[in-house]
Amino acid sequence: MKITIFGAGYVGIVSAACLLRDGHEVTAVEPVESKVADINRGRTPITEPQVADMLAAGHQDGRLHATDDPVVGMAGAEMVWICVGTPSQADGGIDLSIVETAIRQIGEAIRSSDDRPLVVVRSTVLPGTTAGRLAPILEQASDLRVGEDVALVFHPEFLREGTAVADFDAPPKIVIGEDHQGAGDRLLSIYEAYDAPRFRVRSGEAEMVKYCDNLFHAVKITFANEVGSMAKALGIDARRVADVFCADTKLNISPRYLRPGFAYGGSCLPKDTRAIIRKASVLSLRLPMLEGLPTSNSHQIESLVLRLLSHTPRTVGMVGLAFKPDTDDMRESPYVTVAKRLIGEGVTLRIYDPGVEPERLLGSNKQAVQAALRHMETLLVSSLDELDDCDLIVVNHRTIDGATVNAWLAAGKRVVDLAGVDDVDVTHPLYDGIAW
Ligand SMILES: NC(=O)c1ccc[n+]([C@@H]2O[C@H](COP(=O)([O-])OP(=O)(O)OC[C@H]3O[C@@H](n4cnc5c(N)ncnc54)[C@H](O)[C@@H]3O)[C@@H](O)[C@H]2O)c1
Repeated sequence: MKITIFGAGYVGIVSAACLLRDGHEVTAVEPVESKVADINRGRTPITEPQVADMLAAGHQDGRLHATDDPVVGMAGAEMVWICVGTPSQADGGIDLSIVETAIRQIGEAIRSSDDRPLVVVRSTVLPGTTAGRLAPILEQASDLRVGEDVALVFHPEFLREGTAVADFDAPPKIVIGEDHQGAGDRLLSIYEAYDAPRFRVRSGEAEMVKYCDNLFHAVKITFANEVGSMAKALGIDARRVADVFCADTKLNISPRYLRPGFAYGGSCLPKDTRAIIRKASVLSLRLPMLEGLPTSNSHQIESLVLRLLSHTPRTVGMVGLAFKPDTDDMRESPYVTVAKRLIGEGVTLRIYDPGVEPERLLGSNKQAVQAALRHMETLLVSSLDELDDCDLIVVNHRTIDGATVNAWLAAGKRVVDLAGVDDVDVTHPLYDGIAW
């Protein structure tokens, strides 16, 4: 395939080298003269293992060219990859000016020819940018309709400098963000021989995936470093702790606890994070990320309360009170906190939780719930039907089915779903998912 790459930086050059190796013809469009000259001599403008040889081989075959002229560079292209920089502005915001210039140049080049290349955005951009900012620029510059006359997709890059060719060859996933059916077909065809899971999602979702990955990597590094500081201060070798921690692929290095939803609670997480934060303070250690956990968790609870109150409900039904389903443990249950806040705001509450039987509560669990919800037994109902006349229902536990939720919606009840009940009509105007 004839592929044009805008931006001869790390991503553009590594992509060019791998695409050449795969037999494609590559033209780089790059404003920096010395980079254009390097490429046209078959030399790499960046330092990255394997890239020099791959570029030289492609150049030798006459399949590699570079130019600073977008129209020349786009001639005959079947696909164009945008790999230009998206640096930070002084305030931390993303500077889209380079990517906007590139897509305008691409649109103008398309306008001046009969070629209809697939336009692929590889630069990292904030969610909503491809559809909301780049598509209109492409349409205006090309005088064509995106999705009808010209296709545009967002295709995040996951390579790491230093191992970029290996990462290109064995990607953790191939993600294509497309807002029109089939837009990414031509792009997928170049990955036929690549062994990686494919995901075709909306452009905004693909853009968010890229940030989600990078945020998580930053969180992992910061987490490991803060745990490392704590361990060192206690005379413990954090590397040995990390070995044991990482060997647990059931609860630790796994999808567990990564499903977007509501605040944590229960008898362990709040207490144990508090103990470590307190110990750090005694040791004069600063652990900003770990110290932020209770604040973030309380914020989740308070935002939910405000979201519920914004509907000015008179009667609220709750499905679930214990900190999770299939237990009657209400110690530090975030739902108990929500219930208490709602009662304090004068809301009438009905709670359905078949796991909670007031007469069977004991010890610290009983004390905790009595301190927070003194008349809990008067709030509990014994069947789901008793929530039918509430004007708003909060689903805390995934213990009910979609049909029940759909029936409430059909009956005009507002449903706020913190649990992600399956088979619910998520498009219903009265349905509100906590993170979807
Ligand atoms: N570097 C990485 O490891 C990596 C990994 C994944 C994603 N990304 C993302 O990919 C994008 C590119 O990153 P990079 O590190 O390759 O950037 P880079 O700064 O190394 O390269 C960008 C290149 O684009 C060129 N350029 C500027 N304006 C242009 C224009 N109008 N037309 C053509 N070329 C133009 C620049 O001269 C430069 O050579 C960024 O959005 C980055 O966040 C980078």
